[in-house]
Amino acid sequence: MDDADVPALRDLLQHLTRIGYAEKPIRERLGLTDITKLRWRALPIYRAEKLEARDPQASAIDLFLLQGAIPRTELDNLFNQAVQEVLVRAGLLLLDDHGLARARASLYPLGNRLIFSDHAWPSLPHPGCADVPPDQIMYIGSDSRWLARATVRRPVRNALDLCTGSGVHALLAAAHAQRVLAVDVNPRAAQCTRFNSQASGTPHVEAAVGDLYAPVGEERFDLITANPPFVPSPRDSLQYRDGGRSGEDVQARIIAGLPHHLAPGGIAQIVTEFGERGDEPLADRLRGWLGGAPMDIHILRMRETPAATYAIGHADGADTYEAFLNSVHDWAANLRKQGYTRIVSVLLAFQWSDPATATPWTRSDNPKSLHSIAGAEITAAFAAERLVRRSNFPELLSHGRLRRTGPIALLEARALGHEVGTQAQAELLGKALPIIYPLDPVERELLVLLEKPLPFSELLTLAQKSDPGLNLDEPVIVKAITSLIRRGLVLLEGS
Ligand SMILES: C[S@@+](CC[C@H](N)C(=O)[O-])C[C@H]1O[C@@H](n2cnc3c(N)ncnc32)[C@H](O)[C@@H]1O
Repeated sequence: MDDADVPALRDLLQHLTRIGYAEKPIRERLGLTDITKLRWRALPIYRAEKLEARDPQASAIDLFLLQGAIPRTELDNLFNQAVQEVLVRAGLLLLDDHGLARARASLYPLGNRLIFSDHAWPSLPHPGCADVPPDQIMYIGSDSRWLARATVRRPVRNALDLCTGSGVHALLAAAHAQRVLAVDVNPRAAQCTRFNSQASGTPHVEAAVGDLYAPVGEERFDLITANPPFVPSPRDSLQYRDGGRSGEDVQARIIAGLPHHLAPGGIAQIVTEFGERGDEPLADRLRGWLGGAPMDIHILRMRETPAATYAIGHADGADTYEAFLNSVHDWAANLRKQGYTRIVSVLLAFQWSDPATATPWTRSDNPKSLHSIAGAEITAAFAAERLVRRSNFPELLSHGRLRRTGPIALLEARALGHEVGTQAQAELLGKALPIIYPLDPVERELLVLLEKPLPFSELLTLAQKSDPGLNLDEPVIVKAITSLIRRGLVLLEGS
């Protein structure tokens, strides 16, 4: 982009935000509970039912998000002549002989930010824009949004975004990092990141072309983010998506590099997928790649897909039914060969272990969703795990005051007519990462007793009186309260 056009491009982004081109208003206009639910198959419905009134917001959504063609009259309503010329010069707008305007890239809303990248549906019939280059840059997908929402946002000295694509995570990190390095093996991705950083006015984002840590040297970072290609694919067809036959070609090297590039006190966050085999613990694989480095690992298991469903979902060859079936076969055969019975989508967080606690730990949670900003909840999970492992935790507990962290839904199921007892579950309400935890009878009893905050000694006395059948001696109560603190359901004040 010509430097002289940069101010006009920034004005254009601000203008779009003012007319309601941002994540929340777009989501509401299209009637979506989450922007990740946008589907190309629903394009005619969005147009007919949600964008029928052709105000500037509707035209902008059609042009920049739904890959639509809008008439010149709508374009003129949206941008003045000078702005249209800037868009054409930047290669973002195509005006055809029939008086229609199309965008050559999409503009993805992420909160109040707008990020350019290649189209999400490159194969939509789009005369003049339909070719999918092998170096296609990834759209802002559900995985990009999960990582954006989960990243711990705190002021840091430097940040590294590996596999940067459009530069989305580098641009977000620029709001709280003094310096950001964005790396991608695809030169077009580095170019797109530079373009986005110019357009959004974040000059402290540096985009480098290279293989993972190669452009980094010996530097260590306070924040490392990565959304690598992770799909276990029978052939390497999409550079941004395919992680070799096992899916692990790139992600294994990212994790192996963390001990050399994560600064003390820093955090590395990765969104990815793994094929799982039987009961083999995922944590063992991650630890193997870390090569014994003492790091704590937090795993959020976002979604699990059976291998057959995954194969069908990724199969291509849409031209004929036979080609499609052959492709399903190829995908399924590759997953079988790897021994994968299911594919799990995860958000991983790594930190150096606290030397004051004994051994590095791994924690795994299964959130129901991730619809909003969750960095603080990930920070809290690390803090809680570390607290209960401190050697002076028993002392802190005995002098501390306990309270429920917030409103908790207590769910109980009893099967009438069967001797199955009562299964209790608890969920802390209002969280970005809603997690349902099973409760044993002692944990349930303590949660109920903590109707108001109590010093541990009082809770102990009350609990011992409450249900003689539970046989609540002190070690049993300490074990249960530790488990509640670990899971963030109860807070220990004064620790
Ligand atoms: C799944 S996309 C993620 C894009 C973006 N970070 C996001 O979250 O939307 C993966 C990116 O990794 C890049 N990539 C693949 N292999 C790489 C490597 N060895 N080193 C650096 N980047 C690589 C691809 O070019 C692609 O841009």
